[in-house]
Amino acid sequence: MTLQFSLASTAPETADTACVVIGVYEQGVLTSAAARVDGAAEGLIKRQVESGDISGKAGSTSVLFAPAGVKAKRVLVVGLGAQKSFDAARFQKICIESTRALGRLPIADAMSWLSEVDVPGHDSAWRVRTAALAADHAAYRYTATFKPRDKPAQPELATMTLAGAPEAQIGLDQATAIAAGVRFARELANLPPNICNPAYIAEQAATFAEGRERVSCSVLDHVEMEKLGFGSLLAVGRGSANKPRLVVLNYRGGKDGDKPYALVGKGVTFDSGGISLKPGAGMEEMKFDMGGAAGVLGAFVAAVEMNLSLNLVCVVPAVENMPDGDSYRPSDVLTSLSGLTIEVLNTDAEGRLILCDALTWTARTFEPHTIIDAATLTGACVVALGKHATGLMSKHDDLATELLEAGEQTLDRAWRLPLWDDYQTQLDSGFADVANIGGKMAGAITAGCFLSRFTEDQRWAHLDIAGTAWDEGRKGLATGRPVALLAQWLIDRCEK
Ligand code: BES
Ligand code: MN
Ligand code: ZN
Repeated sequence: MTLQFSLASTAPETADTACVVIGVYEQGVLTSAAARVDGAAEGLIKRQVESGDISGKAGSTSVLFAPAGVKAKRVLVVGLGAQKSFDAARFQKICIESTRALGRLPIADAMSWLSEVDVPGHDSAWRVRTAALAADHAAYRYTATFKPRDKPAQPELATMTLAGAPEAQIGLDQATAIAAGVRFARELANLPPNICNPAYIAEQAATFAEGRERVSCSVLDHVEMEKLGFGSLLAVGRGSANKPRLVVLNYRGGKDGDKPYALVGKGVTFDSGGISLKPGAGMEEMKFDMGGAAGVLGAFVAAVEMNLSLNLVCVVPAVENMPDGDSYRPSDVLTSLSGLTIEVLNTDAEGRLILCDALTWTARTFEPHTIIDAATLTGACVVALGKHATGLMSKHDDLATELLEAGEQTLDRAWRLPLWDDYQTQLDSGFADVANIGGKMAGAITAGCFLSRFTEDQRWAHLDIAGTAWDEGRKGLATGRPVALLAQWLIDRCEK
């Protein structure tokens, strides 16, 4: 079930809902919504704060049942932390925690006034959008591969009304569209690789395009790619019974002559490493190695749902990297679609080998205004930036700034790494134009440098989402990153 959102500007004490959500800061400072509820309930909130029953600690939650003077059946009081340090990240956190708390109650609807809490530097449309996206993220459940449940005994949270003035409606509309994209990405990435293989990704893209005006989907299979010369991409897929696909979505929301923006996403539906086999521990996480594909498809979904006035193409090279008698091997020399030859020194550096052909084909086919790729490309990026920041690489300072800014706006943040020519020599090969690995040092950057060889005349940026595409651990789920960043970047392209 997906949460439905709406916007309202009513008073919290008279709202007709199963639960009203209000915030209190540390040191007993009430937000204006909390003060109204407190007034109607004859000082109940203040007394509970003083007694210590309600905490202002950031993310803490307490439920008051049927407080006198308040129309709603319950009041959920959420701690906001210290008022003077309250910021965008804290705002997102309290929205997530409040949704989790609501999810534990036997209720189907709630109204939240957290969207009216002041966030320095942001307006009400931003607050409503961020609150709705955070709530949708927290409410997501992966259920696809569990035994179907019986009807739940208790009602489940289905609708959420956010307090906000009518001018915040744009924020809610954007949130609905971006949430649809995020959910699309998370669901696809969470599916196991015995379901989500290259053909499955192609089907999902085709299903999305079906019946939508101005959206079309086309898919190249391995026979067609063979004819066209996708020598690098096809080599990676050769060891798998699940044959590669090149999945293409096209959206014409802009003027006919406008050059499209292009998103390219790494779609390795399972990365065993191939002949350069990965160790067993943690290998299951490599089902998420199509996180870039999921991310760009999700951003595409969001752009279409927002009806953005631009042209957009989304290209996903989808393959499975497996060891086999027919697998490609270390020391093979491949001829890429661009004509550049590549010496394979490690079959586990496969992402760049499928992306290089996809980037070449995208540039030639669409002559795009800008190309952004997203890929779970290197473990080195996780070492460098951890799980918090996506690695951003681009030779175009203006493009890098646009993307960093979009990440800040959506709290889907990226951090830039250099693509200086100094690093390029690490890719020298004695047997081909370029080697597919660059040695121990600066692994995220040399992967970016490899891709730069295939995008030389393009306005291009690379997002390494190896650390950000999913949460770590046995139960770690896909995060849906960088859907929000890309969606925001596309929104910003329309406003000029
Ligand atoms: N998909 C992996 C990168 C990865 C590793 C993402 C761990 C998230 C977590 C990629 O295909 C890969 O195996 N990269 C190698 C490159 C190396 C052989 C140069 C890596 O990072 O070890
Ligand atoms: Mn790999
Ligand atoms: Zn990989």
